[in-house]
Amino acid sequence: MGHKVDYLRLSVTDRCNYRCVYCMPPEGVPFKPHESLLSYEDMAFFVERAVEMGISKVRLTGGEPLVRRGVSDLVGLIRATSGIHGISLTTNGVLLPRFAHELKAAGLDRVNISLDSLDPERYRLLTRGGSLDNVLRGVEAALRASLDPVKINVVMMQGLLPELPDFVAVTRDRPLHVRFIEWMPVGGCGPRLPGDLLTKADAMAVLERLGAEGLGKPTPVQSPAGWGPAHYYQFPGHQGTIGFIGSMSDHFCGECNRLRLTADGRLKNCLFSDDEVDVKGAVQARDRDGVLALIQESLDKKTFNKDLISGWTSRGMSQVGG
Ligand code: 5AD
Ligand code: SF4
Repeated sequence: MGHKVDYLRLSVTDRCNYRCVYCMPPEGVPFKPHESLLSYEDMAFFVERAVEMGISKVRLTGGEPLVRRGVSDLVGLIRATSGIHGISLTTNGVLLPRFAHELKAAGLDRVNISLDSLDPERYRLLTRGGSLDNVLRGVEAALRASLDPVKINVVMMQGLLPELPDFVAVTRDRPLHVRFIEWMPVGGCGPRLPGDLLTKADAMAVLERLGAEGLGKPTPVQSPAGWGPAHYYQFPGHQGTIGFIGSMSDHFCGECNRLRLTADGRLKNCLFSDDEVDVKGAVQARDRDGVLALIQESLDKKTFNKDLISGWTSRGMSQVGG
């Protein structure tokens, strides 16, 4: 394989204040009882062991990580772990006006904000009730707090293409990095008809047309501090970039550098696999060797092969954290 697994995605909670159409059913999913979750101290102990096994970057995800109380404390604990060189957060952005500053002060480096539409009504439909204004305030708060880079995640859904000029405009005057993500069959929600899916190629064709119509040719650029499989482009004179994550059309499993830990202490070596290693007991017993052995077991089973996608996985996205 020749590459390192150095990136841990840590889901701090399966709860969320949204019900995005592609992530949860309208009624939500039954949340894990609070007692079943790892404490922040448990998570910090796991991160220390993960560093021993080669991890150097951590992303906090959810559900919505900011709905769990005191996430900045967890950021501080991880920051204090020697060997961690980057901490990021994936959030729907709604609570960033409240927490961006304290997260930055605790040691958060960067943030990815989910924002699937710039049209207030479409945004409300896709998130089942979310307010675009609140998220835009969250984006501002992230920039003001000097989180860097600030990336905007856009899952490509039907109806996106007419909005592309607006998303491109977002990257013009400020260092915002918009990433279009191909929707993936994780959990049980979302489009089921192939015709509902938009691909990277669909969106790229529109960007090229915008370029030809006057914006200038979008050119491939280096990733703005990326840890993942996105490919980036920039329009001439724009501060920010446009990225694509071809979750389905690209075959990037071979470069996969990540492990995932769920909020209830299951280690997953692939988003598309239901294979899980339960590390909770060993973590809570502070059994260093036990945890190291379980991480090794999960790494050994990592397949780097998306052809294994066999249908829907049993845990939804909100329970894994993307
Ligand atoms: N396919 C692709 N992306 C998804 N996300 C949530 N569910 C899916 C899915 N099925 C995105 C969220 C968030 C990130 C963690 O993953 O919008 O930006
Ligand atoms: Fe919540 Fe994110 Fe799922 Fe939307 S995609 S319901 S914001 S966890």
